[in-house]
Amino acid sequence: MFRKVKGFRDIFGVEANYWGLVEDIAKRAFRSFGFSEFKLPILERVEVFDRGIGSSTDIVEKEMFVFKDRNEEILALRPEGTASLVRAYIENNLNNPPGVKKYYYYGPMFRRERPQKGRFRQFYQLGVEVFGSTSPLTDADVINLLYSFFEKCDILEYLTLEINSVGCPVCRPSYRDKLVDYLGDKKELLCGDCQRRLHTNPLRILDCKVESCKSITSLAPLMIDNLCGECNEHFNDTKKYLDFMGIKYVVNPKIVRGLDYYVRTAFEMTTDVLGASSAVGAGGRYDGLVKTLGGPDVPGIGFAIGVDRLVDIMMQKDFGLKEQIDLFAVIFDKESLDNVLPVINKLRKDGFSVEFDYETSSIKSQMKKSDRLNARFAIFFGEDELKKGVVTIKNMKNSTQNEVEIEKIAEYLKAQTA
Ligand code: HAM
Repeated sequence: MFRKVKGFRDIFGVEANYWGLVEDIAKRAFRSFGFSEFKLPILERVEVFDRGIGSSTDIVEKEMFVFKDRNEEILALRPEGTASLVRAYIENNLNNPPGVKKYYYYGPMFRRERPQKGRFRQFYQLGVEVFGSTSPLTDADVINLLYSFFEKCDILEYLTLEINSVGCPVCRPSYRDKLVDYLGDKKELLCGDCQRRLHTNPLRILDCKVESCKSITSLAPLMIDNLCGECNEHFNDTKKYLDFMGIKYVVNPKIVRGLDYYVRTAFEMTTDVLGASSAVGAGGRYDGLVKTLGGPDVPGIGFAIGVDRLVDIMMQKDFGLKEQIDLFAVIFDKESLDNVLPVINKLRKDGFSVEFDYETSSIKSQMKKSDRLNARFAIFFGEDELKKGVVTIKNMKNSTQNEVEIEKIAEYLKAQTA
């Protein structure tokens, strides 16, 4: 027997219904904020992520699925969507004509992380990106979309919106020096990873989950207290607009994010119902990224929602989604198929989900199949009834049954389910 690859999953049954629900809610929410869909490839040249996400990030250093193609090109399964979309924005010249552009995407991402609860090697993101605006109103509206989406999923009670400003190329270098100075004489007390990060990516140390590192960083200088005037004003305006929009958030000065492209606003939707992997959605501003990847100097901001984690929370809340079909057609006699099949097809065209038994086995075993599929109604196509142009429809929930004219089946069912 073959087994799936470590960290990869099969998703089916009731869980798949939750995925469908989430996708529908997201697409409606994204369109209502003026975003249009972007379908991105799953493979990119590895440089898109090396340069886009940053070569000293965990994702690029140790988590990408990278391979050499037959023509010697080095390709990577995308670990996220932002760098891909920026590549596509530049390649398709989407800055022309200039202006604000808003896109959303949905699909699998791949990171070779250590699998654990809520952390997979193939996971799905629903993401949005806005190009062409530095206004803090954009930051607030993007966060507003993330918040409204979770509100529509009806799980806000499990979530906290955390925001921060991670500064910009003007204020971050001097802050970085300050932080390295502070941590330098405590180096021996940091975990192995953080000792390395002190030289490559010291800000990430603030985000380390190891207890000894947490206690060392508890008194470390914070970016938020060292912002330049413009970043400070941008952050204050973003918060002001969030207040106007009625969005509840907390400022968490320790948010640094695991990707290097962020400037100014960074945010996460966190939860404590998923164990250690606590962010269900996250994002921020990345004003230099389009330029870094070879495009014009166009600012950007966006977020991505982790659908696997979101569905986990929704299933814990239990919205009562079940695997169900509308109708099971019980066929008494193979000879009547010429009359029955057109009726089934008509009902399917009318939008009902209809199943029947391909083996046309005994009535008892057809009823068993109907139960297994959790049909809401069974339609009995008996010989005598067909001759009269009627069928018997049984409501499987309350066991009531009625004779209904074939022409009026759809009308009858709509009235029953209204
Ligand atoms: P990220 O924080 O790396 O950001 O990922 C966003 C979300 O994807 C996380 O909050 C989490 O819910 C989910 N996620 C990440 N890794 C895994 C995993 N191994 N298993 C399950 N879920 C996971 C980004 O990817 C940025 N591109 C977001 C962004 C868009 N920033 C600006 N625009």
